[in-house]
Amino acid sequence: MAHAEAYKDPGTPEEQSRRTFMANAVIALGGVIGISLAIPLVTSLVPASGTSNDAWSGLTPQEVDQLKKATDNTPVKVTFNLHEVNGYFGASDSEQFVWAVRATEEEMKKERPDLKDIPYPVVNMGFVVFSPLCPHLGCRYAYNANAKQFQCPCHGSTYSTLGVHEAGPALRGLDPLPLREYQGKVQVSWILYAANMPAHIVIQVG
Ligand code: FES
Repeated sequence: MAHAEAYKDPGTPEEQSRRTFMANAVIALGGVIGISLAIPLVTSLVPASGTSNDAWSGLTPQEVDQLKKATDNTPVKVTFNLHEVNGYFGASDSEQFVWAVRATEEEMKKERPDLKDIPYPVVNMGFVVFSPLCPHLGCRYAYNANAKQFQCPCHGSTYSTLGVHEAGPALRGLDPLPLREYQGKVQVSWILYAANMPAHIVIQVG
């Protein structure tokens, strides 16, 4: 067979099955390498609660007062100055908000078993703090006090006050953010999780 025609030759059945085996082996090996790199990367991105670094934004005394208005399971919106550090543009500040809900560890363990792999405490100082971004596609949801649920205006996902996904296209419940008291200040850390995925995959911290 001419050399230029060789690529058209499918080969014997044995050759075909050997090629299929090799192709599958390469794909499987790539998957194992990808997972083994991704797991340490994700956990190393999440800020440790006892460290001082740029992944944390401090709340002013007025903002801490907003937080303390959450006296039961009714969520309160806490606005704060988000301190971000970007490798290209350096540090910047912008107004951001989170939802804070009074909760106990027992309540969260019972209501949110899906959070068991989150590598930081979900309840801090008696609160759980939720990212304001809907885990479906990132719209900002609101709290409906009459329905006692968080409701997303974009595609109708709804969540209980403890962030349990109740209806709509979202694939997981609301994302908790780290909160801590550090050297006399209350701080929150901003973590962006991948949208529209059942698992918590960290995209960006701070
Ligand atoms: S972004 Fe919230 S339901 Fe789609």
